[in-house]
Amino acid sequence: MKPRENWGSHLGFLMATAGSAIGLGSLWKFPYVTGENGGGLFVIAYLVFTLIIGIPIFIAELVIGRGAKRAPVGAYRTLTNKPAWRLLGWSSVVSTLLILSYYIVVAGWALNYTLMSLLDFSANKAPDQIIGTFEVLYRSTDLNLLLSFLFLCLTTAIVYRGIRGGIEFWSKILTPALLVILLLLFLYSTTLSGFSEAFAFIFKPDASKLKPSSLLQALGLACFTLSVGMGIILTYGSYMRENEDIPKTAFTIASINVLVSLMAAMMIFPIIFTFGFSPQEGPGLLFKTMPLVFSKLPGTLLLSTIFFLLVLFAALTSAISVLEVLVATATENFKMSRKKAVLIISAVIFIIGVPSALAGSNTLFKNWTPLYGKNFFDTVDFFSFSWLLPINALFTAIFAGWVLDASLKKKVFAEGSTLTTLFYPWLFLMRWVVPAGVILIMLHQGGILDIDAIFSKLRS
Ligand code: PHE
Repeated sequence: MKPRENWGSHLGFLMATAGSAIGLGSLWKFPYVTGENGGGLFVIAYLVFTLIIGIPIFIAELVIGRGAKRAPVGAYRTLTNKPAWRLLGWSSVVSTLLILSYYIVVAGWALNYTLMSLLDFSANKAPDQIIGTFEVLYRSTDLNLLLSFLFLCLTTAIVYRGIRGGIEFWSKILTPALLVILLLLFLYSTTLSGFSEAFAFIFKPDASKLKPSSLLQALGLACFTLSVGMGIILTYGSYMRENEDIPKTAFTIASINVLVSLMAAMMIFPIIFTFGFSPQEGPGLLFKTMPLVFSKLPGTLLLSTIFFLLVLFAALTSAISVLEVLVATATENFKMSRKKAVLIISAVIFIIGVPSALAGSNTLFKNWTPLYGKNFFDTVDFFSFSWLLPINALFTAIFAGWVLDASLKKKVFAEGSTLTTLFYPWLFLMRWVVPAGVILIMLHQGGILDIDAIFSKLRS
């Protein structure tokens, strides 16, 4: 077998990992969820949970990855002789397969809006028509298939070229480009009249909006935006060298990620508030409200094009990290070459993605929504992020905290690090705080525990 690849440079590794973390979560989830949950206090909760839960799991994944030099399935095989842990590896594989299958559909929309912006699609259109464009796209069968296929081809082409020549090379271009675009758009937003209103919406603490369950939402968001719980960071960690500082890397990435999320919020809301629109989340925010608002601003073509390029780059650097988990697993476990693995897996992802691409047009699985209450796309999204992510995160924490050989984890944590004193605090968080937090999320999500009701009873 060929020797395992390493990242060519620390910067390359940072850019790839930051690129994975910065994604649709920062752009379409964070801003809205923050505003809806009482602003400033929620931001503080998000920061605290990033520090005591997100970063510790991030470190755990890097330790497991670098310790084993394998992607999830192989990592648990290498690090323990209890075969049950391999299930955790396979669970990462299933999660990433599902995520990518519908992520490419959303990314396809971003690709579409980039192209449409270049053609100045909103010129001379009434507001209803601009908003309605998304419905047309959403309900189209062939366009959704074509666009997700094109985006998957971009992702495939990058991962096909390997760690250094593909993922690292392109991350070093795309992630800085993404940051520069975000900064430019942010600076632009500071000049708009809605800036102070947006600032208040995001930062002004409103305790009446902060429910106990908002804290759980902040916790979930902290894990989601850092891409932990999917084996992604573990896989990227498996290509890390011994002289790289694991805890420091985790802090750096988390800081960039928090900064980007805040900047995204401070970029999007001023634009929206300036025109008196109300905030939304998800596809509605990116693909309906934003194009409409851009059409009212000078320089629509340029503004709208670079905004959707930002979304596209954010999605692309996340998608390559998800695909790499699958490709690394296939090359390690089925003795396949990278190139063959990339092509086969991409084909499988496209096929699994078809029902998601066709969810809007309702041409496949027509009875899905009546049966499950959500269309296929939303079901996969909900299942992977609301269930698989917390379950994986919980068991990763238990593995790193309780199962992984104590001297090995200490050694891997400390290699190349100046922050070795953080080992015991990290271990404490891993053993107690992270499992407790994640179990609370799952109990609340499963409707077993209504945190808000419990708190209001305690108060009365
Ligand atoms: N971290 C990504 C974001 O903020 C979300 C993500 C998680 C993407 C896991 C892929 C896999 O959008």
